[in-house]
Amino acid sequence: MIFKKRTHTCGELRASDIGKEVTLMGWVHRRRDLGGLIFIDLRDREGITQVVFNPEKYKEIHEKAGELKNEYVIAVGGQVSPRPDGIVNPKLSTGEIEVLVKDLDILNTCPTPPITVSSEVRPDEITRLKYRYLDLRTGRMQSNIKLRANITKATRDYLAENGFLEIETPILINSTPEGARDYLVPSRLYPGKFYALPQSPQIFKQLLMVSGFDRYYQIARCFRDEDQRADRQPEFTQIDIEMSFVERDDVLDMAEGLMTRIFKDVLNIDIPRPFPRLSHEQAISRYGIDKPDIRYDMKMEDLGEIFKDSAFKAFSETITSGGIIKGIKVEGYGGASRKKLDDLNEKAKEMGAKALFWIVFTEDNIKSSIKKFLRPEDIENLKKKFPVSPNDLVLILADKKEIVHRIFGEFRIFLTEELGLIKYGDFKFLWVIDFPLFTYNKEEDRIDAEHHAFTSPLPEDIEFLDTDPLKVRASSYDLVLNGVELGSGSIRIHRRDIQEKVFKIMGLTMEEADVKFGFLLRALEYGSPPHGGIAPGLDRLVMLMAGEKTIRDVIAFPKTQTAFCPLTGAPVTVSEKQLGELKIKLDV
Ligand code: AMO
Repeated sequence: MIFKKRTHTCGELRASDIGKEVTLMGWVHRRRDLGGLIFIDLRDREGITQVVFNPEKYKEIHEKAGELKNEYVIAVGGQVSPRPDGIVNPKLSTGEIEVLVKDLDILNTCPTPPITVSSEVRPDEITRLKYRYLDLRTGRMQSNIKLRANITKATRDYLAENGFLEIETPILINSTPEGARDYLVPSRLYPGKFYALPQSPQIFKQLLMVSGFDRYYQIARCFRDEDQRADRQPEFTQIDIEMSFVERDDVLDMAEGLMTRIFKDVLNIDIPRPFPRLSHEQAISRYGIDKPDIRYDMKMEDLGEIFKDSAFKAFSETITSGGIIKGIKVEGYGGASRKKLDDLNEKAKEMGAKALFWIVFTEDNIKSSIKKFLRPEDIENLKKKFPVSPNDLVLILADKKEIVHRIFGEFRIFLTEELGLIKYGDFKFLWVIDFPLFTYNKEEDRIDAEHHAFTSPLPEDIEFLDTDPLKVRASSYDLVLNGVELGSGSIRIHRRDIQEKVFKIMGLTMEEADVKFGFLLRALEYGSPPHGGIAPGLDRLVMLMAGEKTIRDVIAFPKTQTAFCPLTGAPVTVSEKQLGELKIKLDV
């Protein structure tokens, strides 16, 4: 070992350092042998510096450098020199210089790695996760993880400046009702009993409000045993926030402040405020889903008035049987082939529609799958609904409301992707408010909370709790970014009588409510202030800001889509001894 300390990182040296004697340490990113010289791109977290081994000047060191392979860990000492004319690398922050190496220490070797760190081509995900420590060395992952750290820093800065206290809440808890399955932890001291891992800190943050800790936050780890998707992991992180003596708009205002601050600090992007708002009902009737992507328009228009007495039976009969007719305009898609249009029809049918109808507007006429049924006034009326230009396509569905909304909701997403309308760098926030408080769970014939059981009804709808609970709207809100549900929150119930009533509507008997949430009901009696909050998902935020498609690319050590960890092998079997201590017998 020759070197003890680095003088600089691999991203630090500039032309102004020329002539200095320096020591760098890092990984061999790439090696090139040219005209007797050996060039190594030396990499660390901060960047890459080119170091050069010259056989004429330092023969022994050059010979030793002959052993170097990708991902060897080395220390080099030498002099900072200008790069020879014309080969300055403008892509590298250190591109004006190189280090002429006089001393080399090989700190560690590396077999041929299963992931080529310097390559942009990624191996399959299992390999990436199995050798995550190599995958994390790649430029893309380094930049994602740094972005994540910058986002949490901006979050903490903003929240601390705005008087929020960071408080931890327990991980081994009683169950929290966020609607997913709990991860359970068996208790050794209480055989046969289990802790649950928190699906969110929901109840504890409410208890903190009862405790007088107005303005709490936590970068909180949450655990949910649910089906995985690109934007779902069994353990994930929320920016969990709760405030006392607030109304809905206070929470929305604070959350907008947080989001705009994060975008400014981290990406230097100014997000305009206030964020637009849609009621849940408007979101569904315009976009078919409760988390619409408003980077593009493609709204649904109701065509019921135009076609209710159409000669086309599929239209008129839909209206008489209580269905709806809606259309979307796909700009510039009129040139789509007949096969493409047939494929869209097939796709709609697979999703439950009877048929999908299309009209293409040309310079002076139309082409359409239902041309013979269209009266001239229909075309005129359609043009009033959709200001069309030649080559625009209008797609129409006549069906049950739920089917039309579901299909167009999805069509909007994949058509815009197909048309290349989505570009990185365009960030459109949206609030969706006034969700229904409850939904009807058909399979279980039961009323469930739409958000969670602690969400307050809108004050003006409280009267319907007894008469028509499904009509009651919630004081809840979702923060949507580019079509992704980024966060949810609500004003909470802070009175025991209303909380009991909500539990009752959800089918919980007083005894059950007492066993599960007695501690909360009791706390509400002891002077609970009005309070509310929100919890943006940190992983989803980082994913969107990084321009990634899955949150697995912004979590250092994620699980696979099937909740498996290829790196550590978790979940694993445990010894008989451990099971014995827990008084657990397996039956698998
Ligand atoms: P909710 O269940 O809507 O609300 O969760 C809030 C946000 O957390 C993120 N999220 C997830 N991210 C990754 N993987 C998952 N499996 C996952 N599940 C949720 C999403 C989501 O919008 N306690 C309430 C919040 C509140 O009322 O204050 C709650 O947890 O971004």
